[in-house]
Amino acid sequence: MDDVTRSIAAIRAAAPDFRPQTGMVLGSGLGAFADTVQPVASISYADLPGFPRPGVGGHAGRLLLGQVGPVPVAIMQGRSHYYEHGRPDGMRIALQTLQEIGCETLLLTNAAGSLRAEMPPGSIMLITDHINFTGVSPLFGESGDRRFVDMVDAYDPGLRAALQRAAASAGITLQDGIYMWFCGPNFETPAEIRAAKFLGADAVGMSTVPEVILARYLGMRVAALSIITNAGAGLDAAPLSHQQTMAAAGQAADGVRALLETYFAGQR
Ligand code: HPA
Repeated sequence: MDDVTRSIAAIRAAAPDFRPQTGMVLGSGLGAFADTVQPVASISYADLPGFPRPGVGGHAGRLLLGQVGPVPVAIMQGRSHYYEHGRPDGMRIALQTLQEIGCETLLLTNAAGSLRAEMPPGSIMLITDHINFTGVSPLFGESGDRRFVDMVDAYDPGLRAALQRAAASAGITLQDGIYMWFCGPNFETPAEIRAAKFLGADAVGMSTVPEVILARYLGMRVAALSIITNAGAGLDAAPLSHQQTMAAAGQAADGVRALLETYFAGQR
């Protein structure tokens, strides 16, 4: 049995009749969204073969199954980052498992640095497109024609419109913009931030892009939200640190929660 089959079996054993429609990945500082879920089961990644072994503070390492309003969801509390091991496909098994248990949609969240003065820490940004100039793809080593994934509208226009509608009705300002993936774990240099801005990025971060590529490869619809936790390196005087990221994301978490609750309430 492969890891996906064994992970599906573990999920079926924990929640026999549960069929999630939407998968989610909660980024740094957003763990509190789990409180909005009416839980059905919670499974440690340690019991899900091939799921990541999160090593980053603020990532719980559990798969939470439950309802958000009318929608059955499978929520990954913690993700694999490229910088933890140098493998870009660390989310491959987990995302394929979610897709095979029924998740047609994937909602990703992350913490990011802003490149725009009018998008200060605390802002929420809906990702409209990304720039991956890392030279790395989670599809390295795949064979077959499916690996040549079309990335136009990778961030699903219908989901983006639904999230914008939810933000408007919840009274939350939802900016939108382009996310540029940096490998990390070091933050960017000021010169890299100036280059990212010049290339057309609005925010920078260390996750999400490999997941989007994998999810599109798997045929899922994708949407992604960035919580702006800081200005990009050199754009203001504040020093960058993981503690600062966690604290700022925690402060914006209420807005994200309200936005997502309103979004899910509007489904079906
Ligand atoms: N750069 C990269 N990743 C990040 C940042 C940043 O400034 N803030 C939060 N995650």
